[in-house]
Amino acid sequence: MIRSIQAAQRLDSRGHPTVQVDLTTDKGTFRATVPSGASTGANEAIELRDKDSSAYGGKGVGKAVSNIELVIGPALVQSGLKVDTHQKMIDCFLNNLDGTHNKSKLGANAILGVSMACARAGAAHLDIPLYEFLRRESGAKKPFVMPVPFFNVLNGGVHSGNKMAFQETMIAPVGASSFTEAVQMGSEVYQQLKKVIVKKFGPSATGVGHEGGFAPPISQPHEALDLLVEAVSLAGYTGRIKFAIDPASSEFFRNGNYDIGFKDDKPNLQSPKQLAELYRSLLQNYPIVLLEDPFAETDWDSWIEFNKNCPIELVGDDLLVTNTKYVQEANDKRACNSMLLKINQIGTISEAIEAANLAYSFDWSVFVSHRSGETTDDFIADLVVGLRAGHIKPGAPCRGERVVKDNRLMEIEAEILAREECIYAGSQFRVASKY
Ligand code: PGA
Ligand code: ZN
Repeated sequence: MIRSIQAAQRLDSRGHPTVQVDLTTDKGTFRATVPSGASTGANEAIELRDKDSSAYGGKGVGKAVSNIELVIGPALVQSGLKVDTHQKMIDCFLNNLDGTHNKSKLGANAILGVSMACARAGAAHLDIPLYEFLRRESGAKKPFVMPVPFFNVLNGGVHSGNKMAFQETMIAPVGASSFTEAVQMGSEVYQQLKKVIVKKFGPSATGVGHEGGFAPPISQPHEALDLLVEAVSLAGYTGRIKFAIDPASSEFFRNGNYDIGFKDDKPNLQSPKQLAELYRSLLQNYPIVLLEDPFAETDWDSWIEFNKNCPIELVGDDLLVTNTKYVQEANDKRACNSMLLKINQIGTISEAIEAANLAYSFDWSVFVSHRSGETTDDFIADLVVGLRAGHIKPGAPCRGERVVKDNRLMEIEAEILAREECIYAGSQFRVASKY
C-alpha cells in the first residue's frame, strides 16, 4: 500500500531545478529523480516549469512539486492501487488524473517521478531487482542481455559552446566481451581522446559539454570522427569500437534547409539532399553503425527517402518522442528502423514500455537514452536490461550523473552472472530483443 508521497525541488546536472519524489509504503521509502532535455522534440509530454522569472530564471518546478503533494499523492494513496502488481493501472490512473493528451495539467515531470518511484517500490515489494520487475512488466524473454554503451565523447549542438553543429559523436565498444569490458574500453579511449585534444588544441580545450563529452574547437563532423579514429587507435581498439552520430538536426532546420553553421559566424545552409549526401560520405569513410535524428522532426520526406536505402540503424528521437502514435506513423511511412526511448518524453514507465514493444513488433531496434539534464538516478540502467534493448546512451564515461548508469550496469552484470546466463549484446545490439 502507498502510504504517502513527498516531493521536492532539487537540481539537475546543468544546475536547473528538477522534481524528486519520495514514495513511502510499508516496505520503506523509494526515491526517483526526473531528467530533462535541452534539444527537446516539439511533441514531447509537457515538462511543467513555473515561468516565474524571479526564481531560477523561470525554470522552477514548484508547481509540479505541489501537484504531487496536493493532487497526485492524496489521490494515489486513496486509490488503494498496489505498487507490486498495478504499475499499468497506476500509470493509467495518473494519466486520467491529468486528463490532457500531453500531461500538461499536472506536468510530465510530476507524473514521471511518481511512476518511477512506484516501479522501484513495486520491485522492493516483490523482493526482486528493478530490472527483473521491468522485465516482467515488458514481457521480455530471458536470458538477460547487457547493452552496448554508446558513449557520447564529443559534444556539440546545443550541448556545448564550440562551433560543432552536430550534437553527439559516440563510440560503441561492440567488440567487448561484456558490459564491464565495454566500460573499460570506453574509458581508455576517452582518456586517449583527452591527450589527442591537448596535443592538437592545448589543455584549455578539454572542457566538457552537457553529457560529459569533450567540446574542442572543431566544427565539421569529419574533424570529430578523425579525433575518434586517432583515440581509438592509440587505445589499441581499432575494429572493436564503432561510431554513431546524433546531429539532433531539428535544432538547425531552417525553412526547409539545414544550417550546419548555426553556431558559427555565418550560416552554412544545406538542402536535405546535400545533408543526406554528407551522411552517406561519412558512412563510407568511417565505421558508423547508427545515425539518430539525421533529419528534423517535421521533415518526414527526407527520413523516408534516406530509409529506402539505409545500411545502418536509423533512430528516431524528436521524430517519435517515445510515443506509440508517432512510432506507428513512422512505421506506416517507413521513415526509420529504430526508436530512441526517453522516459520523460512520454511521462510514464508503462507508456515507455508500450512504445518499445510496438517498435519491437515492427522488427525495429530500441535505444534507451538519458537526457542532457540528468541526475544521479540510475533508473534507465535497469530499464535497458529489463527491456532487452541491447544498447544505451549513458553520455561520456565521465561525470557523476553519467557514470552512475555505467556503474549500476556493471553491478547488474555481476549480479546476473553470479546466478544465471547473461549475454553481452556486442555487434548484435540492434536485435538484442530477439536473442
Ligand atoms: P536532450 O539531448 O536530452 O538535450 O534532448 C539528447 C538527444 O538529443 O538525444
Ligand atoms: Zn537525440
